[in-house]
Amino acid sequence: MFLTLMAKTWGNALAQPAVEFDATPLVVLEGVIPPDLRGTLYHNGPARLERGGQRVGHWFDGDGAILAVQFQDGRAVGTYRYVQTAGYQQEQGADRLLFGNYGMTHPGPLWQRWGKSLKNVANTAVLALDDRLLALWEGGLPHGLDRQTLSTHGLDLLGLQPQDSYSAHPKVDPHSGQIYNFGVSLGAQAQINLYRHDRQGHLLQRASIPLTGLGMPLIHDFVLAGDYLVVCIAPVRLNLWPAALQLRSFSESLEWKPQLGTEVVVIDRHSLTLVSRRTADPWFQWHYSNGWVNGAGHVVLDLVRYEDFQTNQYLKEVATGQVNTVVLGNLWRMVLDPTTAQILDSQPLTTGGVEFPQVSPQAVGQAPGGADDRGTVFVHHRPHQDAQGELFGAIGHLDPSGQVTVTDLGGDRYPFEPIWADRWVLTVVFNGSTGQSEVWVWDGDRPGSDPHCRLHLPQIIPLGFHGTWAALT
Ligand SMILES: [Fe+2]
Repeated sequence: MFLTLMAKTWGNALAQPAVEFDATPLVVLEGVIPPDLRGTLYHNGPARLERGGQRVGHWFDGDGAILAVQFQDGRAVGTYRYVQTAGYQQEQGADRLLFGNYGMTHPGPLWQRWGKSLKNVANTAVLALDDRLLALWEGGLPHGLDRQTLSTHGLDLLGLQPQDSYSAHPKVDPHSGQIYNFGVSLGAQAQINLYRHDRQGHLLQRASIPLTGLGMPLIHDFVLAGDYLVVCIAPVRLNLWPAALQLRSFSESLEWKPQLGTEVVVIDRHSLTLVSRRTADPWFQWHYSNGWVNGAGHVVLDLVRYEDFQTNQYLKEVATGQVNTVVLGNLWRMVLDPTTAQILDSQPLTTGGVEFPQVSPQAVGQAPGGADDRGTVFVHHRPHQDAQGELFGAIGHLDPSGQVTVTDLGGDRYPFEPIWADRWVLTVVFNGSTGQSEVWVWDGDRPGSDPHCRLHLPQIIPLGFHGTWAALT
């Protein structure tokens, strides 16, 4: 007897390169657009996973495209544009893939692969500055775009050096508006570079902290917690030479080494200097939802924790439109002593498999329960459904008291990262039943309720990564 795996409908969102569209009024499918929703939802993700008949090697390899949905006076207008990176333009001209990337080696014979740089795909996240939008990619510098038209200005140095990288998970201090971020650099001494910018993108401060041990780690995100920054370095290390010689891709050269443990690094966010570092039992995380300092002076971290690095294989399979690996990451709360980086407590907050956690911008770095805290939203697997072969089909909400509410979207509906927009929660949804993309608006004060309204997007928006909300001021 042969076991036939039925393809799930989410694969249709990634099957074809995305089609751009100019500013287009969005048709309301259901409900009414809240009149107090004033601002723009931006979202980034890999929009082209194929060129010239060749598929990319990993979901992370696709060229980035930005969706902007502008809300004002009870109406919504959508715009969708590829980021015009140098690599995108060269490949567009050649009509074939020319570059290697995270999950694929450079095309061509071995002797032609060495020394070539990877393509900056600008596909991971967005950061709205006062006068421009940044499309972020952790392997290099961001690209600057026009906030209205989404036309690409080019690489945006942000006062950094051309060889620096700027991660896709900057943290904005809600009090000062200052932007904290990091990048990892190799060299004689591998190090974490730390950056602080103002809201216009002017560099205010930079510092570096050396990495311990041998090998390049994979650090995707970090956390702002009160007066601290915390970086957790999971035991994933790059096997350098196969990647440098392009015998194998970077993704295939990353090795899970649990014997190294996960290192917790605590940094003073004002001086950007090391406070403490300590190795704990191993885990892996892509994302944190938030961090803060509690009444005892301990740092608390909420993060999506995985037992190992199988999540990378799962994300590779997503690019094929069919996944066989089952991986469940869940929100955990960890408490640590910042003076020693020792973990004092660790507890799971969810059980069903979640990702892409978000708190409201005013809550970043702050303890839960404040006036501006609306809780954490995230995508969640459908309750009581087999996760085999599936992507996330529900939205979860964790309130400040620890209560989790899961809202099932009903099957064949695949939500992207949910984003807080004041009291509203916005998410792009791929509707596998109709083969079309939608924007759903939820009332964040009523977790578990039906969406307040649903809007039709004129083209398929491929499943993507991270977004942001820029309120109209
Ligand atoms: Fe991310």
